[in-house]
Amino acid sequence: MTQPPPSSAAQTTVPQPHAVELSSVTANKTDADSTQAKGSQIIRLVDLHVSFGTQRVLRGITLGLQRGQTTVIVGPSGTGKSVLLKCIVGLLKPNRGEVYFEDQRVDRLTELQLVQVRKRMGFLFQTGALFDSMNVADNICFPLKQHTDMSRQERRHRCDTVLRLVGLGGIESKMPMDLSGGQKKRVALARAVVLEPQVVLYDEPTTGLDPIRSDVINELIIALRDQLGITSLVVTHDMNSADKIADRIVMIYDGTVIADGKPTAFYRSENELVQRFIHGRADQEDLDRIREGFEPVKP
Ligand SMILES: Nc1ncnc2c1ncn2[C@@H]1O[C@H](COP(=O)(O)OP(=O)(O)OP(=O)(O)O)[C@@H](O)[C@H]1O
Ligand SMILES: [Mg+2]
Repeated sequence: MTQPPPSSAAQTTVPQPHAVELSSVTANKTDADSTQAKGSQIIRLVDLHVSFGTQRVLRGITLGLQRGQTTVIVGPSGTGKSVLLKCIVGLLKPNRGEVYFEDQRVDRLTELQLVQVRKRMGFLFQTGALFDSMNVADNICFPLKQHTDMSRQERRHRCDTVLRLVGLGGIESKMPMDLSGGQKKRVALARAVVLEPQVVLYDEPTTGLDPIRSDVINELIIALRDQLGITSLVVTHDMNSADKIADRIVMIYDGTVIADGKPTAFYRSENELVQRFIHGRADQEDLDRIREGFEPVKP
């Protein structure tokens, strides 16, 4: 396997977060993880490790998702957030650790068994991942065709409903190449929820959308939780979105969880890494590198 470039997280000079400083946050986490019955956690990750060659991406993630809640995962680019989502749906197998969906050990399932699990988990890929050769309606109806005995008419009706849900009614016959980036994302989102799954995993659902469309997606995630009791796990860099939708925010840094708690506690965190992330501040080494880059070239 080609060795991928080191993650940006690994390049920073900020001291490693050996201990989480958020007393109220860790208290929440500890309470949640230790005292709540495992039954209330629909997805559980236990000591998850993932490496690619010598690159250690996830280094012992333990996390439980509370049923019916929206958990937001934030963290620097390249820190392993998408890898974590892929482990949950069984697209990647961890090197060590366990992944549970309810009582099922996902990391040990066969491809055939995974198909059944994925029926109950919608996944919005970071890139959208629509089938380029199918129009919008066929893309959205694909999971219905695969996993239900709905008639063509019923499928079309459901397709209309979810397209309207994401604000794209009337574009059924368009091809993906004729859509804008944001429209593709919303079609992919419509497809992720078309089977009315119990859990929806979103990888950067608002990236590339204008603020109003982003807010529509936020409202949709909230509505899915409040009206259908859907559990959501949302990876995002969009702190406005996190602020609006999260019941809980988890920050991953260098492959480990460094903060985990309710949004209010998260925002009050005294952890420098958390604050820098929230406020989008580059570290000193990055700034020095940029300045060095602009020094006049010596003849
Ligand atoms: N299949 C793979 N093979 C090799 N390396 C991989 C693979 N998938 C991910 N990686 C590497 O793992 C690291 C984490 O990737 P990941 O996509 O999870 O980052 P991320 O936190 O989602 O970042 P971003 O916020 O930019 O989406 C990266 O360095 C990436 O190159
Ligand atoms: Mg990613």
